[in-house]
Amino acid sequence: ATERTLSIIKPDATERNITGKIIAMLEEGGLRVVAQKRVRWSREQAEKFYEVHKDRPFYNDLVTFMTSGPIVLQVLEGEDAVARNREIMGATNPAEAGPGTIRAEFGENIERNSVHGSDSPENAQKEIALCFDESEIVG
Ligand code: CMP
Repeated sequence: ATERTLSIIKPDATERNITGKIIAMLEEGGLRVVAQKRVRWSREQAEKFYEVHKDRPFYNDLVTFMTSGPIVLQVLEGEDAVARNREIMGATNPAEAGPGTIRAEFGENIERNSVHGSDSPENAQKEIALCFDESEIVG
């Protein structure tokens, strides 16, 4: 079914000026950008977004990294968009990501892995609502 997912191009990628290359891979993979904005998160915003990870050992560093520079928030739409986006991104750890995936191509390490994507349709809905007003999404 047609679905929406939340995508984030992370600070390691905006820093290297490769957002266009990443967006091209998402579009070539069959997804459509139906909302997009470049922002810099406050610590509070990053903490809220990654709240599910708050008890994990990497949480504090992750929040510091995600607030270290600009990010690009996107809503992607397409057939099975959540799963499709995860295929296009590859595994969380770039060292384990399959050839031709965004993280294999551009990820530097498990933290600086260039992109985030929602991990389930339920979380996609929550993450989209957290990042965008309905009026900003134009399908
Ligand atoms: P992301 O999809 O944004 O979701 C949580 C992020 O935490 C993950 O990508 C990684 O960038 C980061 N992270 C850092 N260390 C780890 C780890 N050991 N396991 C999972 N995620 C990690």
